[in-house]
Amino acid sequence: MNILLFGANGQLGTKLKDLLSSKGALRSVGSDDLDLRDLSVMRAFIREVRPDLIVNAAAYTDVDAAENDAESARLVNAEAPRIMAECAKDRHALLVHYSTDYVFDGGAREPYSETSPTSPLGVYGTSKLAGELAIASSGAAYLTLRTAWLYSNRGKNFLNTMLRLATERDELRVVDDQVGCPTYSDLLAEATITMLDGLYANGAVRHERCGLYHAACAGQTSWHGFAKKIIEHAGYANRVHVTPITTAEYPTPVQRPAYSVLSSEKLARVFGIRLPDWEAGLRRCLSERGNGG
Ligand SMILES: NC(=O)c1ccc[n+]([C@@H]2O[C@H](COP(=O)([O-])OP(=O)(O)OC[C@H]3O[C@@H](n4cnc5c(N)ncnc54)[C@H](OP(=O)(O)O)[C@@H]3O)[C@@H](O)[C@H]2O)c1
Repeated sequence: MNILLFGANGQLGTKLKDLLSSKGALRSVGSDDLDLRDLSVMRAFIREVRPDLIVNAAAYTDVDAAENDAESARLVNAEAPRIMAECAKDRHALLVHYSTDYVFDGGAREPYSETSPTSPLGVYGTSKLAGELAIASSGAAYLTLRTAWLYSNRGKNFLNTMLRLATERDELRVVDDQVGCPTYSDLLAEATITMLDGLYANGAVRHERCGLYHAACAGQTSWHGFAKKIIEHAGYANRVHVTPITTAEYPTPVQRPAYSVLSSEKLARVFGIRLPDWEAGLRRCLSERGNGG
Protein backbone atom coordinates (compact mmCIF):
# COMPACT_ATOMS: atom_id res chain seq x y z
CA MET A 1 0.00 0.00 0.00
CA ASN A 2 1.27 3.48 -0.91
CA ILE A 3 0.67 5.87 1.97
CA LEU A 4 0.99 9.66 1.80
CA LEU A 5 1.12 11.57 5.10
CA PHE A 6 0.76 15.38 5.24
CA GLY A 7 1.69 17.32 8.38
CA ALA A 8 4.39 14.82 9.33
CA ASN A 9 6.15 17.24 11.71
CA GLY A 10 3.12 18.26 13.76
CA GLN A 11 2.14 16.84 17.17
CA LEU A 12 -0.15 14.23 15.68
CA GLY A 13 1.78 13.77 12.44
CA THR A 14 5.03 12.85 14.19
CA LYS A 15 3.44 9.85 15.90
CA LEU A 16 1.46 8.91 12.78
CA LYS A 17 4.71 8.87 10.81
CA ASP A 18 6.10 6.33 13.29
CA LEU A 19 3.04 4.12 13.23
CA LEU A 20 2.23 4.28 9.51
CA SER A 21 5.73 3.25 8.47
CA SER A 22 4.88 -0.38 9.22
CA LYS A 23 1.64 -0.25 7.24
CA GLY A 24 3.05 0.24 3.75
CA ALA A 25 5.39 2.37 1.62
CA LEU A 26 5.16 5.71 3.43
CA ARG A 27 5.88 9.16 1.93
CA SER A 28 5.68 11.75 4.69
CA VAL A 29 5.61 15.44 3.95
CA GLY A 30 6.09 18.52 6.11
CA SER A 31 5.66 22.18 5.29
CA ASP A 32 9.35 22.40 4.31
CA ASP A 33 8.71 19.89 1.52
CA LEU A 34 5.44 21.26 0.26
CA ASP A 35 3.32 24.31 1.10
CA LEU A 36 -0.29 23.15 1.08
CA ARG A 37 -1.41 26.64 0.08
CA ASP A 38 0.07 25.88 -3.32
CA LEU A 39 -2.85 23.76 -4.40
CA SER A 40 -1.73 22.91 -7.92
CA VAL A 41 1.70 21.73 -6.71
CA MET A 42 -0.01 19.63 -4.07
CA ARG A 43 -2.36 18.06 -6.60
CA ALA A 44 0.54 17.20 -8.94
CA PHE A 45 2.49 15.73 -6.02
CA ILE A 46 -0.40 13.46 -5.00
CA ARG A 47 -0.73 12.24 -8.59
CA GLU A 48 2.98 11.48 -8.68
CA VAL A 49 2.95 9.51 -5.39
CA ARG A 50 -0.19 7.53 -6.41
CA PRO A 51 -1.30 6.87 -2.83
CA ASP A 52 -3.81 4.22 -1.77
CA LEU A 53 -4.15 6.01 1.55
CA ILE A 54 -3.80 9.76 2.22
CA VAL A 55 -3.53 10.83 5.86
CA ASN A 56 -3.84 14.56 6.45
CA ALA A 57 -2.49 15.66 9.83
CA ALA A 58 -1.58 19.11 8.48
CA ALA A 59 -3.65 22.11 9.44
CA TYR A 60 -3.44 25.82 10.11
CA THR A 61 -3.91 25.39 13.87
CA ASP A 62 -3.17 28.86 15.29
CA VAL A 63 -6.70 29.83 16.31
CA ASP A 64 -5.92 33.48 17.04
CA ALA A 65 -3.56 34.10 14.09
CA ALA A 66 -6.18 32.70 11.71
CA GLU A 67 -8.35 35.76 12.38
CA ASN A 68 -5.80 37.91 10.53
CA ASP A 69 -4.80 35.30 7.96
CA ALA A 70 -8.12 33.88 6.87
CA GLU A 71 -6.85 33.14 3.38
CA SER A 72 -4.09 30.81 4.61
CA ALA A 73 -6.52 29.12 6.98
CA ARG A 74 -9.00 28.63 4.14
CA LEU A 75 -6.37 27.22 1.78
CA VAL A 76 -4.79 24.82 4.29
CA ASN A 77 -7.91 23.78 6.23
CA ALA A 78 -10.57 23.79 3.52
CA GLU A 79 -9.14 23.87 -0.02
CA ALA A 80 -6.21 21.47 0.44
CA PRO A 81 -8.47 18.79 2.02
CA ARG A 82 -10.99 19.33 -0.79
CA ILE A 83 -8.31 18.55 -3.38
CA MET A 84 -6.96 15.62 -1.35
CA ALA A 85 -10.50 14.19 -1.39
CA GLU A 86 -10.83 14.72 -5.15
CA CYS A 87 -7.53 12.93 -5.71
CA ALA A 88 -8.56 10.13 -3.31
CA LYS A 89 -11.80 9.68 -5.22
CA ASP A 90 -10.01 9.52 -8.61
CA ARG A 91 -7.64 6.85 -7.29
CA HIS A 92 -10.22 4.92 -5.22
CA ALA A 93 -7.98 5.72 -2.28
CA LEU A 94 -8.96 6.39 1.32
CA LEU A 95 -8.55 9.83 2.92
CA VAL A 96 -8.05 10.14 6.68
CA HIS A 97 -8.51 13.70 7.92
CA TYR A 98 -8.77 15.48 11.30
CA SER A 99 -11.06 18.22 12.48
CA THR A 100 -11.89 20.03 15.67
CA ASP A 101 -14.34 20.62 18.51
CA TYR A 102 -14.14 24.30 17.51
CA VAL A 103 -16.75 23.64 14.79
CA PHE A 104 -19.21 24.03 17.69
CA ASP A 105 -20.22 27.29 19.40
CA GLY A 106 -20.17 25.86 22.93
CA GLY A 107 -23.82 26.55 23.72
CA ALA A 108 -24.60 22.88 24.49
CA ARG A 109 -24.80 21.39 27.97
CA GLU A 110 -24.26 17.78 27.01
CA PRO A 111 -21.53 16.19 24.87
CA TYR A 112 -21.70 16.94 21.16
CA SER A 113 -22.31 14.04 18.80
CA GLU A 114 -21.43 13.82 15.10
CA THR A 115 -24.97 14.93 14.22
CA SER A 116 -25.07 17.96 16.54
CA PRO A 117 -25.51 21.24 14.65
CA THR A 118 -22.24 23.07 13.97
CA SER A 119 -21.73 26.80 14.37
CA PRO A 120 -18.06 27.82 14.57
CA LEU A 121 -17.14 31.02 16.38
CA GLY A 122 -14.03 32.03 14.42
CA VAL A 123 -12.03 31.72 11.22
CA TYR A 124 -10.19 28.57 12.32
CA GLY A 125 -13.38 26.64 13.15
CA THR A 126 -15.09 27.94 10.01
CA SER A 127 -12.22 26.84 7.79
CA LYS A 128 -12.03 23.41 9.45
CA LEU A 129 -15.78 22.93 9.01
CA ALA A 130 -15.48 23.86 5.32
CA GLY A 131 -12.77 21.18 4.97
CA GLU A 132 -15.02 18.58 6.61
CA LEU A 133 -17.93 19.43 4.33
CA ALA A 134 -15.79 19.41 1.18
CA ILE A 135 -14.54 15.91 2.02
CA ALA A 136 -18.01 14.63 2.92
CA SER A 137 -19.46 15.80 -0.40
CA SER A 138 -16.51 14.64 -2.54
CA GLY A 139 -17.63 11.06 -3.06
CA ALA A 140 -14.28 9.79 -1.75
CA ALA A 141 -13.95 7.10 0.92
CA TYR A 142 -12.95 8.98 4.03
CA LEU A 143 -12.59 9.04 7.80
CA THR A 144 -12.77 12.48 9.38
CA LEU A 145 -11.87 12.41 13.07
CA ARG A 146 -12.93 15.42 15.11
CA THR A 147 -10.70 15.72 18.12
CA ALA A 148 -10.13 18.27 20.90
CA TRP A 149 -7.52 20.08 23.00
CA LEU A 150 -4.58 18.10 21.53
CA TYR A 151 -1.28 18.08 23.38
CA SER A 152 1.90 16.06 23.36
CA ASN A 153 5.51 16.26 24.50
CA ARG A 154 6.35 17.98 21.19
CA GLY A 155 5.79 21.47 19.93
CA LYS A 156 3.71 24.37 21.16
CA ASN A 157 0.74 23.28 23.22
CA PHE A 158 -0.98 23.87 26.57
CA LEU A 159 0.94 21.12 28.40
CA ASN A 160 4.34 22.44 27.35
CA THR A 161 3.30 26.03 28.12
CA MET A 162 2.16 25.10 31.66
CA LEU A 163 5.34 23.12 32.35
CA ARG A 164 7.51 26.01 31.15
CA LEU A 165 5.56 28.59 33.19
CA ALA A 166 5.79 26.34 36.26
CA THR A 167 9.58 26.77 36.21
CA GLU A 168 9.23 30.58 36.01
CA ARG A 169 6.31 31.44 38.35
CA ASP A 170 4.69 30.35 41.57
CA GLU A 171 1.18 31.19 40.42
CA LEU A 172 -0.57 30.23 37.17
CA ARG A 173 -3.89 31.94 36.42
CA VAL A 174 -5.92 29.69 34.13
CA VAL A 175 -9.38 29.94 32.57
CA ASP A 176 -11.96 27.83 34.39
CA ASP A 177 -15.09 28.50 32.32
CA GLN A 178 -14.15 26.66 29.12
CA VAL A 179 -14.72 22.94 29.30
CA GLY A 180 -13.46 20.27 26.90
CA CYS A 181 -11.61 16.97 26.48
CA PRO A 182 -7.79 17.23 26.64
CA THR A 183 -6.48 14.55 24.27
CA TYR A 184 -2.94 13.18 24.09
CA SER A 185 -2.13 13.17 20.37
CA ASP A 186 -0.28 9.81 20.53
CA LEU A 187 -3.51 8.18 21.71
CA LEU A 188 -5.31 9.64 18.71
CA ALA A 189 -2.58 8.40 16.35
CA GLU A 190 -2.89 4.90 17.85
CA ALA A 191 -6.68 5.02 17.56
CA THR A 192 -6.29 5.99 13.90
CA ILE A 193 -4.21 2.88 13.23
CA THR A 194 -6.75 0.67 15.03
CA MET A 195 -9.49 2.25 12.92
CA LEU A 196 -7.55 1.54 9.74
CA ASP A 197 -7.13 -2.08 10.85
CA GLY A 198 -10.89 -2.29 11.32
CA LEU A 199 -11.71 -0.50 8.10
CA TYR A 200 -10.19 -2.89 5.61
CA ALA A 201 -11.60 -6.37 5.03
CA ASN A 202 -9.65 -8.54 2.55
CA GLY A 203 -7.81 -5.44 1.32
CA ALA A 204 -11.01 -3.51 0.49
CA VAL A 205 -12.44 -0.55 2.39
CA ARG A 206 -15.65 -1.29 4.30
CA HIS A 207 -17.52 1.76 3.06
CA GLU A 208 -20.25 1.47 5.65
CA ARG A 209 -17.64 2.34 8.30
CA CYS A 210 -16.43 5.50 6.54
CA GLY A 211 -17.56 8.93 7.65
CA LEU A 212 -17.28 11.43 10.48
CA TYR A 213 -16.22 10.38 13.99
CA HIS A 214 -15.53 12.14 17.25
CA ALA A 215 -12.27 10.88 18.75
CA ALA A 216 -11.27 12.54 22.02
CA CYS A 217 -10.22 11.34 25.43
CA ALA A 218 -13.09 10.47 27.77
CA GLY A 219 -14.32 12.72 30.56
CA GLN A 220 -14.19 16.50 30.66
CA THR A 221 -12.44 19.32 32.46
CA SER A 222 -11.68 23.04 32.21
CA TRP A 223 -8.31 24.50 31.21
CA HIS A 224 -7.87 25.22 34.93
CA GLY A 225 -8.67 21.59 35.84
CA PHE A 226 -6.23 20.41 33.19
CA ALA A 227 -3.50 22.78 34.42
CA LYS A 228 -3.99 21.67 38.03
CA LYS A 229 -3.47 18.03 37.09
CA ILE A 230 -0.42 18.89 34.95
CA ILE A 231 1.17 20.70 37.89
CA GLU A 232 0.22 17.90 40.30
CA HIS A 233 1.45 15.00 38.14
CA ALA A 234 4.62 16.85 37.16
CA GLY A 235 5.48 17.28 40.86
CA TYR A 236 5.18 21.10 41.13
CA ALA A 237 2.06 21.23 43.34
CA ASN A 238 3.91 22.14 46.55
CA ARG A 239 5.39 25.26 44.91
CA VAL A 240 3.01 26.39 42.14
CA HIS A 241 -0.56 27.48 42.78
CA VAL A 242 -3.09 27.25 39.94
CA THR A 243 -5.74 29.97 40.28
CA PRO A 244 -9.05 29.76 38.41
CA ILE A 245 -9.98 32.84 36.35
CA THR A 246 -12.78 33.65 33.90
CA THR A 247 -12.51 33.97 30.13
CA ALA A 248 -13.27 37.68 30.61
CA GLU A 249 -10.06 37.98 32.65
CA TYR A 250 -8.01 36.41 29.84
CA PRO A 251 -9.25 37.98 26.60
CA THR A 252 -8.09 36.44 23.31
CA PRO A 253 -8.60 37.72 19.73
CA VAL A 254 -11.19 35.04 19.05
CA GLN A 255 -13.88 33.61 21.28
CA ARG A 256 -13.56 29.93 22.22
CA PRO A 257 -16.54 27.66 22.83
CA ALA A 258 -17.42 27.61 26.55
CA TYR A 259 -18.29 23.92 26.28
CA SER A 260 -16.90 21.66 23.57
CA VAL A 261 -17.06 18.18 25.08
CA LEU A 262 -17.21 15.53 22.35
CA SER A 263 -19.06 12.26 22.71
CA SER A 264 -16.94 9.52 21.11
CA GLU A 265 -19.70 6.89 21.41
CA LYS A 266 -19.91 6.29 17.65
CA LEU A 267 -16.21 5.39 17.60
CA ALA A 268 -16.84 2.85 20.36
CA ARG A 269 -19.94 1.46 18.67
CA VAL A 270 -18.52 1.06 15.16
CA PHE A 271 -14.84 0.33 15.81
CA GLY A 272 -14.87 -0.79 19.45
CA ILE A 273 -12.35 1.94 20.30
CA ARG A 274 -12.49 3.94 23.54
CA LEU A 275 -9.79 6.50 24.22
CA PRO A 276 -8.83 6.58 27.91
CA ASP A 277 -9.97 9.21 30.35
CA TRP A 278 -8.14 12.53 29.81
CA GLU A 279 -6.29 12.27 33.12
CA ALA A 280 -5.00 8.77 32.29
CA GLY A 281 -3.89 10.20 28.92
CA LEU A 282 -2.02 12.99 30.71
CA ARG A 283 -0.29 10.53 33.04
CA ARG A 284 0.84 8.45 30.09
CA CYS A 285 2.13 11.50 28.21
CA LEU A 286 4.12 12.69 31.24
CA SER A 287 5.50 9.21 31.87
CA GLU A 288 6.79 9.13 28.28
CA ARG A 289 8.27 12.60 28.55
CA GLY A 290 11.53 11.53 30.07
CA ASN A 291 12.24 8.92 27.44
CA GLY A 292 11.66 10.99 24.33
CA GLY A 293 7.88 10.27 24.29
N1 LIG B 1 -3.96 21.30 18.46
C1 LIG B 1 -5.20 21.19 18.93
O1 LIG B 1 -5.49 21.56 20.08
C2 LIG B 1 -6.28 20.59 18.08
C3 LIG B 1 -7.58 20.50 18.60
C4 LIG B 1 -8.58 19.95 17.82
C5 LIG B 1 -8.29 19.48 16.54
N2 LIG B 1 -7.02 19.59 16.06
C6 LIG B 1 -6.77 19.11 14.69
O2 LIG B 1 -5.91 17.97 14.80
C7 LIG B 1 -5.05 17.92 13.65
C8 LIG B 1 -3.61 17.83 14.11
O3 LIG B 1 -3.30 18.96 14.90
P1 LIG B 1 -1.86 19.17 15.58
O4 LIG B 1 -2.10 19.76 16.91
O5 LIG B 1 -1.03 17.96 15.43
O6 LIG B 1 -1.30 20.33 14.65
P2 LIG B 1 0.18 20.96 14.61
O7 LIG B 1 1.04 20.36 15.64
O8 LIG B 1 -0.03 22.43 14.55
O9 LIG B 1 0.69 20.44 13.21
C9 LIG B 1 0.09 20.86 12.02
C10 LIG B 1 1.09 20.66 10.92
O10 LIG B 1 0.53 21.25 9.74
C11 LIG B 1 1.59 21.80 9.02
N3 LIG B 1 1.18 22.92 8.18
C12 LIG B 1 0.60 24.07 8.57
N4 LIG B 1 0.48 24.89 7.50
C13 LIG B 1 0.99 24.22 6.45
C14 LIG B 1 1.19 24.55 5.07
N5 LIG B 1 0.81 25.74 4.58
N6 LIG B 1 1.76 23.63 4.26
C15 LIG B 1 2.16 22.43 4.75
N7 LIG B 1 2.02 22.07 6.03
C16 LIG B 1 1.44 22.97 6.87
C17 LIG B 1 2.55 22.34 10.06
O11 LIG B 1 3.85 22.37 9.53
P3 LIG B 1 4.98 23.34 10.21
O12 LIG B 1 5.11 22.85 11.60
O13 LIG B 1 6.15 23.07 9.40
O14 LIG B 1 4.42 24.70 10.12
C18 LIG B 1 2.43 21.34 11.20
O15 LIG B 1 3.45 20.39 11.19
C19 LIG B 1 -5.39 19.16 12.83
O16 LIG B 1 -6.32 18.81 11.83
C20 LIG B 1 -6.04 20.10 13.83
O17 LIG B 1 -6.94 20.99 13.20
C21 LIG B 1 -6.02 20.13 16.79
